[in-house]
Amino acid sequence: MAKGFYISKTLGILGILLGVAAVCTIVALSVVYAQEKNRNAENSATAPTLPDTTSASTASPTSTAAPTSTAAPTSTAAPTTAINENEPWNKYRLPKTLIPDSYQLTLRPYLTPNEQGLYIFEGNSTVHFTCNESTDVIIIHSKKLNYTLKGNHLVALRALAGPPAPDIKKTELIERTEYLVVHLQGSLVKGNQYEMESQFRGELADDLAGFYRSEYMENGVKRVVATTQMQAPDARKSFPCFDEPAMKAVFNITLIHPNNFTALSNMLPKDSRPLPENPSWTITEFHSTPKMSTYLLAYIVSEFRCVESDPSSKVQIRIWARPSAIDEGHGDYALNKTGYILSFFADHYNTPYPLPKSDQIGLPDFNAGAMENWGLVTYRESALLFDPLSSSIGNKERTVTVIAHELAHQWFGNLVTMAWWNDLWLNEGFASYVEYLGADHAEPTWHLKDLIVQNEVYRVMAVDALASSHPLSSPEDEVNTPAQISELFDSITYSKGASVIRMLSSFLTEELFKKGLASYLHTFQYSNTVYRDLWEHLQMAVNNQAVIQLPDTVAAIMDRWTLQMGFPVVTVNTNTGDISQEHFLLDPSSTVTRPSDFNYEWIVPIPYLKSGTQEQKNFWLTNKKTQNNDFKTSGNEWVLLNAGVTGYYQVNYDAGNWEKIQKQLQTNLDAIPVINRAQVIHDSFDLARFTFGSAEKIPITLALNNTLFLDKEREYLPWEAALSSLNYFKLMLDRSEVYGPMQSYLKKQVEPLFTHFQSETKNWTERPPALMDQYNEVNAISTACSSGVSQCKDLVSKLYSEWMSHPDNNTIHPNLRSTVYCNAISFGGEEEWNFAWQQFRNATLVNEADKLRAALACSKDVWILNRYLSYTLNPDYIRRQDATSTIISIASNVVGQSLAWDFVRGNWKKLFDDFGGGSFSFGNLIQGVTRRFSTEFELQQLEQFKEDNSATGFGSGTRALEQALEKTKANIKWVNKNKEVILQWFTENSKP
Ligand SMILES: *[C@@H]1O[C@H](CO)[C@@H](O)[C@H](O)[C@H]1NC(C)=O
Ligand SMILES: *[C@@H]1O[C@H](CO)[C@@H](O)[C@H](O)[C@H]1NC(C)=O
Ligand SMILES: [Zn+2]
Repeated sequence: MAKGFYISKTLGILGILLGVAAVCTIVALSVVYAQEKNRNAENSATAPTLPDTTSASTASPTSTAAPTSTAAPTSTAAPTTAINENEPWNKYRLPKTLIPDSYQLTLRPYLTPNEQGLYIFEGNSTVHFTCNESTDVIIIHSKKLNYTLKGNHLVALRALAGPPAPDIKKTELIERTEYLVVHLQGSLVKGNQYEMESQFRGELADDLAGFYRSEYMENGVKRVVATTQMQAPDARKSFPCFDEPAMKAVFNITLIHPNNFTALSNMLPKDSRPLPENPSWTITEFHSTPKMSTYLLAYIVSEFRCVESDPSSKVQIRIWARPSAIDEGHGDYALNKTGYILSFFADHYNTPYPLPKSDQIGLPDFNAGAMENWGLVTYRESALLFDPLSSSIGNKERTVTVIAHELAHQWFGNLVTMAWWNDLWLNEGFASYVEYLGADHAEPTWHLKDLIVQNEVYRVMAVDALASSHPLSSPEDEVNTPAQISELFDSITYSKGASVIRMLSSFLTEELFKKGLASYLHTFQYSNTVYRDLWEHLQMAVNNQAVIQLPDTVAAIMDRWTLQMGFPVVTVNTNTGDISQEHFLLDPSSTVTRPSDFNYEWIVPIPYLKSGTQEQKNFWLTNKKTQNNDFKTSGNEWVLLNAGVTGYYQVNYDAGNWEKIQKQLQTNLDAIPVINRAQVIHDSFDLARFTFGSAEKIPITLALNNTLFLDKEREYLPWEAALSSLNYFKLMLDRSEVYGPMQSYLKKQVEPLFTHFQSETKNWTERPPALMDQYNEVNAISTACSSGVSQCKDLVSKLYSEWMSHPDNNTIHPNLRSTVYCNAISFGGEEEWNFAWQQFRNATLVNEADKLRAALACSKDVWILNRYLSYTLNPDYIRRQDATSTIISIASNVVGQSLAWDFVRGNWKKLFDDFGGGSFSFGNLIQGVTRRFSTEFELQQLEQFKEDNSATGFGSGTRALEQALEKTKANIKWVNKNKEVILQWFTENSKP
């Protein structure tokens, strides 16, 4: 699955230094590695197991008659209060007794509500399975499904050969563990095959999970789509199945749907015929899938249209969306790029695309960013559709990278699948790394590979530097419940996973990495692995050559990065050549309670540069402390470690080396590669936060001195690093007297950049050609507007008022829209806000709607922001999937911060109950509304909040709440220690 919705990078940037508001890169970090949350399972975790006596009705299958005592006679009504944890049906993991071979699944979704106003689907399923160990109980997942009795039982059982199957004693549904349990009179025979049949119905709810419905308007009429999101454990909500990733099977899917709707699934249809009893319905039968996991299934019934590839192409490629979006050409970009990306990965993996077709579909309601269902990838519309007239370059970049991410999974993840969710990090980390390679192949002029440092490495270090972080890899037995699985979908899994795999690929070299990878995929196709299998195949590749020498095995090196949390800071003394490492903690006084077998030491690959040479050298730091003469320097000579920032660690130097780097940057910055100019800023700011308690770390003024060269810097990455780093200053200090001098300093530094782009773009009338220059142009405008460059205010106000006077003709370039809207709304009043709200309500393009939705949070008026907050609870105004990010946007506005916090505190229970179905990500919400917390008073409020709501609970936000408490404590210390020094520095350096 792709990272939830994350705000496009350009949009992210705009918030950073906006005096007022908007969405920040760190919002992007926090927003949403959204994932279906299963709070039911979690909430009922302590509830007693009651044999289900109500879900099976002897009435006709379509009856919704109230449950009566005609319940399944085999369900003995013997409520118990204690759960016997030894019973296999009380354990969250399936026993290994039965292994599925294939399913015959027929589903019929009704796209209009029944008499009760309920949207439902009906289904039949037959599963064939082999008995692997003799057993007298069949345990299969089932969630929120109502069964029609087969005889006296929920299911019927037959042996496929050999002696007949034992009789069924009783069947029951267990809500807590989400099982259908079949108790047998006798035992199944090891090695024999059986088939089990069931007939059921479920609700086609709007809960974005399992088989669900999405709605949209077309020509003023509401339309309904039946679609799926199975990951992580919701296939069981659509039909009874062995719902674990290692339970791979062949699926034969049939959909019964109205004639004027199209049915799609993982495979192409093999037959289509009218439903005999009602010819206005069609039966579409699909080809058998290869052996695959349940979480990758997909089926969709819709009135969507598609654009497709040239029929001569080997793999049929189609892009599906709402008819009007397709007619307007919004699927064309995705279609054009998919072919390049598929052939890139086929080559990268040295394995052909495993299926005959590749469908991709943009859905109006979708929880995550996208989902890699095999052969039928689902997306948020904003992650798939691109409109050249109104989408920004950032939207375009997002489209191509999300597509690359999902297509990368078609092999890594789908063809070869992790055996259990505890190894999710390898699946997602891998895809989050290679998405940059695939997208780079599709857009070779964009230099996308350089963006990984800002977007993944630095983004996740901010989280991984906390004592409450966690290792990438979790032991299998610690991940059991749906809630525990959901919690794995976080930035550590995605971005740290990507960062360490990139580091591995870099020290092995891409060529060697690809050899090991191909051998892994060939060995394990259509089956399951643990992460060590990949290390083993990479090791084989290493052993087969003599050029690359490693200080230890691949597994031994990688264990230190995957089994212990955090990362090191490497410190070099260029007087002595001493080099050492220690665990980097944002607050070194916080206690690390999690033990590590490796004592928080790493085996660190260190590519490095020295002044005066272009040549990159390599060094391995294999213990806590050592010495290397080549790190000694003299005169003006400097050394720079972690060249290209391929390593997942930070670097510190003696004061002399830092000063020489600063001098180099201020005299001739081109001597240091762009990516390392960003690194110098990023690492020094993080290290400056690392000072308290420990004397040898760097002073905050050293970090600030590393921004002095920015008046000469025209490249995006260093600016972006500086703006992100200074964003922390803004969050901590924009309510204090430091704010004024800080804005003056920024104004002084950004003016040359603003003027540069003004002339480069012929007074903002055209865009610079390179992607990152386009991003930097937006940075220049946002920073200039927020720091008070008057030409900037004139520019945005003029552009916005022109649009207000001609609402049908928006001439603001899509790249600039986010920043122009946000600044104009913040400079303006009710009229400007209402205009944007109206445009938001009328927007037919989700990219445009998203920009407006974020900008609406930029108002400086308390009452407007409060009204906007209240709208987030009304799904007619703000779609459920967007509620969290809207509240977070409001919280990132200095005026909106306390309003959003009060709103979340005041409505916690309601938020929890209303959005409990899955579209709401509580972790991100907590993180988003507490980011500015830096006073004792705020800490108390947070502790009070924790206490007050302990009964309701925090669901998937539990860890985020602990992190927020830890961060608040660290912020308090930071502000107390640094505020005066920072005030003084900005005051001095903002002088003309
Ligand atoms: C399931 O099977 C029953 C009995 O054969 C049939 O009446 C019903 O229409 C089927 N339902 C679906 C959705 O296929
Ligand atoms: C399933 O049964 C429950 C209890 O009778 C009922 O409330 C629910 O609406 C039923 N669901 C469907 C889809 O019929
Ligand atoms: Zn993914």
